[in-house]
Amino acid sequence: MYDKMFEYVKRIVDAMQITGRLRSKTRADRYGHSERVFHWSRRLADEYEKESGVKVDKESLEVAAIFHDVAYGIAKYPKRHSTAGAEICRKYLVECGYEAEKIDGICNLIGKHSDKEALFDPDIPIELVLLMEADLMERSGAVSIVGDIWQEAMQDSVGYVHMYEHIKKFSYEQAEGNPMRTDVAKRYWEEKRRLVHMFAEQLEMDLGLDDKEKGDA
Ligand SMILES: [Fe+2]
Repeated sequence: MYDKMFEYVKRIVDAMQITGRLRSKTRADRYGHSERVFHWSRRLADEYEKESGVKVDKESLEVAAIFHDVAYGIAKYPKRHSTAGAEICRKYLVECGYEAEKIDGICNLIGKHSDKEALFDPDIPIELVLLMEADLMERSGAVSIVGDIWQEAMQDSVGYVHMYEHIKKFSYEQAEGNPMRTDVAKRYWEEKRRLVHMFAEQLEMDLGLDDKEKGDA
């Protein structure tokens, strides 16, 4: 259903990978981020609907998730990526013949998705809440650990201890607290926090970093 949309976004992001702000190798996964935010949005929306009985405009949420970071691909774009992304999406949806009201709703989600401090604002639509939660969720837990290792592995001289330190500094730190608003997302975050903590503790043990007396051996 969304194949053409994904292709369109991928073309923009891939093109900018060569010249734009996506030159570093991990940033090249920006398109993958959009795919994963799409899946998280869908998962959270389905479960939220089931649990709360509140209807979510899933189509608007899913389209917004696909396009939400498309403008990160634009080199030296003079506007915020959220504003620029909304403009790119609007152009695409108009060409596809979407209704004006639908387009406004989707572009509103994209234009505001970066304002994470507004997540607890009671006046924002549930689709924006879920998009912001999905955006945060995607960059945490297992994916975050992989990202830490990936970034560290790109350095010239690396070892497992460097990777462990990177995980402690970013994924571990990020997993503290719970930034989510809906109960569904809060539960997923807790699972992620447990995973990251357990992973870091196991790695610490595997590397012998927990052995305070190793200097005496
Ligand atoms: Fe994002």
